[in-house]
Amino acid sequence: MKIIVITGSPHRSGTTAALAEQFSIGAAGAGHQVCRFDAAFKNVHPCIACEKCHTTEDGCAFKDDMEDLNPKLLEADAVVFVSPIYYYDINAQIKAVIDRFYANDAVLHGHKKAALILAMADDTIESADGAVASFKSMTKFLEWDIAGTLIGVNCGDVEALKKTDYLTQAYELGKNM
Ligand SMILES: Cc1cc2nc3c(=O)[nH]c(=O)nc-3n(C[C@H](O)[C@H](O)[C@H](O)COP(=O)(O)O)c2cc1C
Repeated sequence: MKIIVITGSPHRSGTTAALAEQFSIGAAGAGHQVCRFDAAFKNVHPCIACEKCHTTEDGCAFKDDMEDLNPKLLEADAVVFVSPIYYYDINAQIKAVIDRFYANDAVLHGHKKAALILAMADDTIESADGAVASFKSMTKFLEWDIAGTLIGVNCGDVEALKKTDYLTQAYELGKNM
């Protein structure tokens, strides 16, 4: 299976980077082909709703790093979103990527699995409700099957993350995709 892992954090060695890495090790060990797109280190302009993608043959107005991601997204069997919680939601860097799906949503529909991996400082899972709700709505709209959701609470930094078993859970999620 071809899996694209999209991360949002600007921390190269933060909690969600560690979770993404363990997921990828688990998935690769199970024979899956894993490709990672770290949105915070890419040039992805936010959608400006110009509708050029839907009204012309030229596609999206922005010729940026989404041009690399789009073909991989189209051929992926699974898309995994990995984000820190920022103000009760996924962060802006990963949201910019998701909004840019708009240019290709007709061809992105169906035949994919999806998973969500989140980390946050709070100790209450409810702090991820907004992120989980939009993930469920997005996957329903795109007709993607949810393969798993991992919500890491009490994960304000890597030291805190290491006191939990979320790294193992991320590995297992990758292995069982
Ligand atoms: C701008 C900002 C907003 C945040 N908002 C929340 C929040 O609403 N709830 C929470 O539990 N943690 C919040 N956090 C903490 C991060 O989710 C947490 O530190 C996470 O581990 C960061 O992941 P990273 O190391 O992969 O970047 C916030 C952090 C930042 C920088």
